[in-house]
Amino acid sequence: MTTKPNSTQGNTHACRGGRDWQLNIWHRMAVSNAVQQTFFRLQIIRNTAMPSLAPTKYYLRAEEGLALRALEARVGQKTLILEGPPGTGKTAFSQFLAERWGAQYLYLLSHNWLSDEELFVGVHVGRVAAGVEHPEEAYQLGILARAAVASQAGPVVICLDEIDKAPQRAEALLLDFLQHGRVFGPTGEVWQAKCSNLTVVLTTNGVRPLMEATLRRGLRVKMTFLPPATEADIVRQATGAPMGAIRCAVRMAGVIRKGGATAPSLQEIRNLMGDLAIAHDAADVRRLIEGWLCKEPEDWQALTAAMGDTPEAILWGEYRRASK
Ligand SMILES: Nc1ncnc2c1ncn2[C@@H]1O[C@H](COP(=O)(O)OP(=O)(O)OP(=O)(O)O)[C@@H](O)[C@H]1O
Ligand SMILES: [Mg+2]
Repeated sequence: MTTKPNSTQGNTHACRGGRDWQLNIWHRMAVSNAVQQTFFRLQIIRNTAMPSLAPTKYYLRAEEGLALRALEARVGQKTLILEGPPGTGKTAFSQFLAERWGAQYLYLLSHNWLSDEELFVGVHVGRVAAGVEHPEEAYQLGILARAAVASQAGPVVICLDEIDKAPQRAEALLLDFLQHGRVFGPTGEVWQAKCSNLTVVLTTNGVRPLMEATLRRGLRVKMTFLPPATEADIVRQATGAPMGAIRCAVRMAGVIRKGGATAPSLQEIRNLMGDLAIAHDAADVRRLIEGWLCKEPEDWQALTAAMGDTPEAILWGEYRRASK
């Protein structure tokens, strides 16, 4: 199928005189909720920003290495479904793939009012209000349509992050794109991706199970926490904190993940180590441990069960020893 990113073929309304066509667009706008439309515009701006925590060096786990080899060997469109707890590197892996392939990276953080306009094609309220010469100028491409266009020029990685936060309806709308790489416009236009250039990464924390039809369309990779030595290495690179103290904090996170109620992420360990620089005493360190690693009372209980009544004293001791 040919790609017609700006095509108006098949769009009888759009091919008529400018005034008729504008009325048609205004009618569409009236039907949809204007406030929601404006909000969608803001979302697009927010969602297309690259997440700021791109790792400088990415540690590939065996399962990611395998997924990478599978993706690189495959001809045609590729879909990866990354499942796992917060902080295990799902988003970071999608960025790693884009960096590795020199691909354009398109990012959308899902939310529970994710609309088809954000995914496919919407109406650009501002341009329509100002009056447009050509029908196609009134459209605003959603992330999938933009990916289809970008894939004509080179590799593209789309990250639909936390897709489990989107309603099932939005997920269902993705199925055709995941299968055929095509997007339909409001009045029949087709944006066809160059599938060999396209990689779609869906991430999920398991807030709701994904549809079986979605799961069937991608290689599923279960992400787990990195080995403690690797986590320590990453925190060391990011904070420059003393290794003894970092190992202690990584151990604390491991104890909580195993015996507590929540699972502290690598990011939280990193933040704890960064903030230790401003602690005055062990009491401050306890507040920081509680502030970064312990979300529930069971988390602190797991720590004290494994490390004694004052785990903060151990961390503070390690930190000060190296600072002397
Ligand atoms: N394999 C890795 N190599 C280097 N850094 C990593 C790796 N895995 C995770 N990180 C770092 O850990 C932090 C958390 O990763 P990321 O945000 O990708 O996790 P996530 O699984 O997407 O979490 P969430 O579910 O909360 O969105 C990031 O700063 C990322 O750079
Ligand atoms: Mg993420």
